[in-house]
Amino acid sequence: MSAGSRKAYEAAPVAVVAGRIAVPGDKSISHRSVLLSGLATGRSEVTGFLPSEDCLASMAAMRALGVAIEQRSATDVVVHGVGLRGLRAASRALDMGNAGTAMRLFTGLLSAQAFDSELIGDASLMKRPMERVAKPLRAMGADVRTAAGGTPPVLIHGARALHGIEYSMPVASAQVKSAILIAGLYADSVTTVISPAISRDHSERMLASFGVRVEVDGLRVSVHPPAALAAQQIHVPGDFSSAAFFIVAGLLAAGSEGIVIENVGLNPSRDGLLAILRGMGARIEIEAARQSGAEPVADLRVFRSPLRGIEVPPGLVPLSIDELPVLFIAASCAEGETVVTGAEELRVKESDRIAAMAGGLARLGVPHTVLPDGIRISGRPEGPAFTGGVIDSCGDHRVAMSFAVASLRASAPIRIEDVANVATSFPGFVALARSAGLALHET
Ligand code: S3P
Repeated sequence: MSAGSRKAYEAAPVAVVAGRIAVPGDKSISHRSVLLSGLATGRSEVTGFLPSEDCLASMAAMRALGVAIEQRSATDVVVHGVGLRGLRAASRALDMGNAGTAMRLFTGLLSAQAFDSELIGDASLMKRPMERVAKPLRAMGADVRTAAGGTPPVLIHGARALHGIEYSMPVASAQVKSAILIAGLYADSVTTVISPAISRDHSERMLASFGVRVEVDGLRVSVHPPAALAAQQIHVPGDFSSAAFFIVAGLLAAGSEGIVIENVGLNPSRDGLLAILRGMGARIEIEAARQSGAEPVADLRVFRSPLRGIEVPPGLVPLSIDELPVLFIAASCAEGETVVTGAEELRVKESDRIAAMAGGLARLGVPHTVLPDGIRISGRPEGPAFTGGVIDSCGDHRVAMSFAVASLRASAPIRIEDVANVATSFPGFVALARSAGLALHET
């Protein structure tokens, strides 16, 4: 696509955001919902499914593997599971688009099938590391190949009997953990994954709700190969990572009643941003906390709050990894310095998020120092924290949405280039942001 035809955002400063909003369904849970429902015996129903490009790639892949899926509405999905051994070979390479989660989870699933598969993706995904998942799967007996450099295409030769392993992951990755656990459904014995730190546990929760015996002991999780998965009803909560943009927007500019974000997934392996922001002085109230199936949810009321910079405790980094870009925006508006370290994983996300965010902060006049594994940011608590200007999202949805939020404290409009990828995680972002009061337009 030529630069001229790329989508961009224009975000003008406004003084107040307000209202009650609901963000779309959780991306991680939506991927897992179609994958595991497809392996179950019989009809599963998913409500609150995220109809984003990433999750639709998972849905298309399951269909290509022989699973009938009805999308009764954008968010209500019925999956006719074919059983653990009912998948059949796809007639062509499975295109995972921009979705790293889909590529890694499906690598685990397809390693255990009786047929060959090939996984490809868009330009960003074709550069992302896949050996982190291929290596442990090979240790289970799978035949998984990646290109030179360990990137996609991922070629999987099927017809392999898999063995249970005990695997200590070098990085805290929920995608790697999940790929191994899914392959473990087909192994001849128990499969155990040991994480160096907490990572999101949606797979463990959902596998258990499908009737799989999952044992969790601190950072150690084991899956027992089941005879079958029992079809389920899955209610996908609102995505905390999508809510994060409105949490920070509320802290910077909420009216006196605050802004309410309804039905947000508050899984404790995902909500590290709340602890970080509260450590910076944020007032965020949790209302109507409840359980939605296997996942905790609540409504969040966020008040405009003066923020102060902190050193982010490294233990909170894996619990807030996808929210760090918008945390950098909050840090730019905080008094003093905020330091994030131990976040080298940001360099291998949909873009190098440390570089992409630093590029935008530099354009908008925010003093900062890039670190190999994070960033130091000096905030401006009074008046505009950002100049206006043109920034490049580097094709990364979370970078694009973060700078849209920055407009709330900018001295002039911010233009954000290359924003089509917002559709990978947050369809309807512009409309929802406008309903909350942001002056955001797509051009
Ligand atoms: C995800 C896990 C995280 C996260 C990604 C979604 C998942 O990645 O960044 O957006 O659904 O398992 P890692 O597991 O690679 O840390």
